[in-house]
Amino acid sequence: MTNGELFSMAVKAAENSYSPYSKFRVGAALLAADGRIFTGCNIENASFSLTNCAERTALFKAVSEGVREFKAIAVAGSSTEDFRKPCQPCGACLQVLSEFCGDDLIVILSNGFFKLSDFLPLRFGAENMK
Ligand code: THU
Repeated sequence: MTNGELFSMAVKAAENSYSPYSKFRVGAALLAADGRIFTGCNIENASFSLTNCAERTALFKAVSEGVREFKAIAVAGSSTEDFRKPCQPCGACLQVLSEFCGDDLIVILSNGFFKLSDFLPLRFGAENMK
């Protein structure tokens, strides 16, 4: 699975986006350590704050299937058919990803690939509550 292939899967996942309010479609493709891929899209709600982002949809699908180890996530977002502009994961998604993924999780966007720690260098985690 190349970075480009995972990104293409994220673009494809955005087709199922339910985003009548923002009209901004987001797709994510999460590569698990065992090679399985979980895709997700953003799912909006008339009560706006209940919206679920694409990354969290993909992650929750994986965790609910018993998968907790991940290598990479690709994210694609656009209000048009053109997904070339990068769509960075929001802060809430970074925090939720950090519950299960280390600093080295690869984050693939349209403009290249990064690490989770590039976006969230200092995370709040279980160790903070000891
Ligand atoms: N969105 C995501 O799905 N992922 C992100 O990381 C950023 C934002 C969605 C939420 C909402 O449906 C739309 O994009 C506009 O904010």
